Amino acid sequence: MKANPKRYLVTAALPYANGPVHIGHIAGCYLPADIYVRYLRAQNKDVLFICGSDEHGVPITIKAKKENITPKQVVDKYDGIMRNAFQDFGINFSYYGRTTSETHKTTAQDFFKTLYDKGVFKEEITQQYYDEEAKQFLADRYIVGTCPRCGNPNAYGDQCEKCGTSLNPTDLINPKSALSGATPILKETKNWFLPMDTIQKSEEFKSYIKRFDNWKSNIKGQCQSWLNEGLQPRAMTRDLDWGVPVPINDANGKVLYVWFDAPIGYISATKEYLNNDTWKDYWQDADSSLIHFIGKDNIVFHAIIFPMMLIEHGKYILPTNIPANEFLNLEGDKISTSRNWAVWLHEYLIDFPNRQDELRYVLTSIAPETKDSEFTWKDFQTRVNSELVSIFGNFVNRVLVLCDKYYEGILPKVTSKVTDEKIISDYSNCIKQVNESLEKMCSNLDTFKFRDAQTEFINAARAGNKFLADTEPWKLIKTDSENVKTIMFEAVQICARLAIAAEPFLPFTANKLKTMLNAENTKWDDLFNAIILPENHKINKAEILYKQVEDIEIQQQLERLEKIKTENQKSTNTTSQLSSENSKTNQLHPVKSDIVYDDFDKIDLRVGKVIEAERVPKADKLLKLTVDLGFEKRTILSGIAEYYQPEELIGKLVTVVANLAPRKIRGIESQGMLLMAGNDFGKLYCVSPEKDIEQGSVVK
Ligand code: 2FM
Ligand code: ZN
Repeated sequence: MKANPKRYLVTAALPYANGPVHIGHIAGCYLPADIYVRYLRAQNKDVLFICGSDEHGVPITIKAKKENITPKQVVDKYDGIMRNAFQDFGINFSYYGRTTSETHKTTAQDFFKTLYDKGVFKEEITQQYYDEEAKQFLADRYIVGTCPRCGNPNAYGDQCEKCGTSLNPTDLINPKSALSGATPILKETKNWFLPMDTIQKSEEFKSYIKRFDNWKSNIKGQCQSWLNEGLQPRAMTRDLDWGVPVPINDANGKVLYVWFDAPIGYISATKEYLNNDTWKDYWQDADSSLIHFIGKDNIVFHAIIFPMMLIEHGKYILPTNIPANEFLNLEGDKISTSRNWAVWLHEYLIDFPNRQDELRYVLTSIAPETKDSEFTWKDFQTRVNSELVSIFGNFVNRVLVLCDKYYEGILPKVTSKVTDEKIISDYSNCIKQVNESLEKMCSNLDTFKFRDAQTEFINAARAGNKFLADTEPWKLIKTDSENVKTIMFEAVQICARLAIAAEPFLPFTANKLKTMLNAENTKWDDLFNAIILPENHKINKAEILYKQVEDIEIQQQLERLEKIKTENQKSTNTTSQLSSENSKTNQLHPVKSDIVYDDFDKIDLRVGKVIEAERVPKADKLLKLTVDLGFEKRTILSGIAEYYQPEELIGKLVTVVANLAPRKIRGIESQGMLLMAGNDFGKLYCVSPEKDIEQGSVVK
């Protein structure tokens, strides 16, 4: 990176406005970006921090279909939730935009038009998957099938989330429409392709990728493997009705590919924020440094596709760095929005009011900077209690309380030089450690190693804490009050330095501590000053910086997760309670771990015929069925009332789990379970034998 660029443009991935943000998003992208920006701002650098809601794309339309509302209603709802959560958590964007804004629409269209007019795109008529039942072309995300590379049966048409491979829908083996479950047909349509194969060979691109050498190894590795495989042209337009309309004549009913429009969202948000031509200084001046913070699933789009778009446009700078992170797991499992397996930021803020910095601290401590990492509530408690409370909080509190007690908060005049050899040595050890730690902290911040940087911050606090423990001013006060003055004076200086250093990581604490020290005007430049607050400076009353995280608080969070786990298990094991959300999980859930044949053989599956069916009063989803298994009749309750009318089922052959232990549902004993297949939108279909076969036949 240029040693000292004139200005910085820092972006954080625009989150899809189809759900709230969770700790995985925060640890992976928004928190490191915020720390970096706070660090730059503290140094008075010219920096813009840009983000916004990604409001186009298929994830939005899928959510809208599931909730039976319009895409606009979806994005309005989640834009609000995310915007507030970011703000309350102290993620301090310069501007948070929306890709449904008018500025965005014109910016994205102009960008497309520029490339189009330059003849960049390859216009191609291709065969695209079309769902004859739903009567529409299927966007990549609406097609699910088996990944040709790793065999994951739930890969999407644009990407396999298991192995990370980027795909074209036609690469999928056994593709199915996620809309109707039908096998889609191929139908001709015209689209505009970015010739990534040709651009890869261009001098500009070759020169750009030299930058990868200085980037983190995870991103370098992913990009290199893409480039080695050879890039393919990729359609920048889609046959969809939700998105930015393609601004050319023969493109009716087509919109820009969401990965074309989303990164342009960074540009349009900058325009909206600055509201005049100065946005160009950040985007088009070689003296600006563009840094994208993203999660690993966004690497190819930011490191390859967007730069190619920028190169072809011709007026833009290219990213200086892309410090992408890996993923954060939660209590041993992958974080999953559809399975509700997450700690949602807005819920944390309700459960732990005014304790933003505790979560910021822990998420930075465990940030997935080089590999996937893990959040557990127990670890959260341990880190807060044994580091923030016991080291940093304890040090600051002891210093301020003693100052108040001994000097009524007025920094003492240090009248005589310290004479005690031990105190001299304790002090010089402490200051050496503080200086070293803070220096390392800064160099780690410069190189995007936020985890190490924060460790150095806490090491500085640890050194201060040790200084107090070694010198024990509370004992010394009885015999040597002059030396205590020096100890306390120096300890207050360390507190002030910690208040400055805390700002990028723990901004709420930094403010609180500065207020307590009556040192609101201190600057980052003071960080290495030995004396920040002079003699006679009046400090304010001490307040506790952090409270202990209690067992009960952790217990409550674990119980919430336990409940979700149970619900998820129920929904996978029981066909009778599938909601649309859960059936999405089914469709998209990775294959469960292997079982041996004996496990499978324990299940007794039989063909049965439905001979009676009726609704269960006051239970919207349940039907009460009488199923004839040939050798006996069973009463079975099934949660399929939303998908079948009772009369439709009479005479139907179904598959029954015949040896499932009976259980009571709504006071009725259910003596088995029907097998149902659920598609991506929760629609359920009976699993029935192909031919009319005797009831009671074994299914194996
Ligand atoms: O993965 C995502 O959540 C995308 N919405 C990120 C877009 S980043 C940028 F290109 F806008
Ligand atoms: Zn795969």
